[in-house]
Amino acid sequence: MTDTALVEVRGLTKHFTTSGGVTRAVDGLDFRISRGETVGLLGESGSGKTTTGRLLLRLTPPSGGEIRFNGADVASLRGAALKTFRTQAQLVFQNPFDALNPRFTMRQSLAEPLINAGVAKAEREDRMQAVLRQVHLPDAASVLATFPHQMSGGQLQRVVLARALILEPDFIVADEPVSMLDVSVRAGILNLMRDVRDAMGLAAIYISHDVTLVRYVCARTLVMYRGRIIEDGPTADVVRRPRHPYTQALISAVPVPRAQQNRAPILLRHNRGGSLDLAVGCGFRDRCPHAFDRCVVEKPALRPVASAHLTACHLDL
Ligand SMILES: Nc1ncnc2c1ncn2[C@@H]1O[C@H](COP(=O)(O)OP(=O)(O)OP(=O)(O)O)[C@@H](O)[C@H]1O
Ligand SMILES: [Mg+2]
Repeated sequence: MTDTALVEVRGLTKHFTTSGGVTRAVDGLDFRISRGETVGLLGESGSGKTTTGRLLLRLTPPSGGEIRFNGADVASLRGAALKTFRTQAQLVFQNPFDALNPRFTMRQSLAEPLINAGVAKAEREDRMQAVLRQVHLPDAASVLATFPHQMSGGQLQRVVLARALILEPDFIVADEPVSMLDVSVRAGILNLMRDVRDAMGLAAIYISHDVTLVRYVCARTLVMYRGRIIEDGPTADVVRRPRHPYTQALISAVPVPRAQQNRAPILLRHNRGGSLDLAVGCGFRDRCPHAFDRCVVEKPALRPVASAHLTACHLDL
């Protein structure tokens, strides 16, 4: 073994059983995240991104497979080890307007995780000041006295991020961190996330359906489709030369500077969704312009197509 990954996922599944049948929300994921690595998890609505994030943070139990954090099996953590995990791995909420208690001042919201972690009062003050500087809200005295309704969306998202960072985690899951914000404030938050990444050496998964965000913040990109990872590679390679037909369609819909080919958007066939049997074959076969016999009977495994670049497709890519 060379380095131990910070996060290591093997055969991870989450199937939901409802009156409508079984939803294979997460259907066999394998990936690793190194210390300090920022990974984008890209995919359309319902592809299983949020479920994956919740599994990684042990907010929901898996149906199968394994997650290792710092080498330890996350499902078997108990007592002090579980408490440590809860400080080391943090969630950044999607909607800053829902993420903070409306009756709490920013001081109360930021103090809460510190109190739960047993941090003494004097140190709590120092940590709050430091983390607010880190998220570029330097006027701590006035920020800490403010209630959520007195803040803009961009300011709130900075406090939400501060709350996730205040226990100095090794890993964060940011689920659509800017999707609720106006376009004009998004760039500021994205810049901040880049600064935080560089300053803290934090490993992170940024969940998004927005190629632009992932391109801006993430060194590596995982593309998810119907509960499976169908492409995994350096972001620059995935964007410049997407291999999987689904990724190609996804990328073709956004303008990319210096792309290998400046393509017209690839239009996919209508999504048949629910009627497709996802237990066998490729989950993209009903919409894929290149699907052939093998795609109906055999689930494509992730395989290398270039350096550090994997694709789950039977085509010769
Ligand atoms: N608690 C649940 N019970 C039943 N089905 C669920 C549950 N949570 C998620 N699902 C289903 O699992 C699938 C994946 O959902 P998930 O929320 O992970 O997708 P997503 O990629 O985050 O989508 P979005 O981009 O819309 O946030 C969907 O079909 C969803 O309806
Ligand atoms: Mg989601």
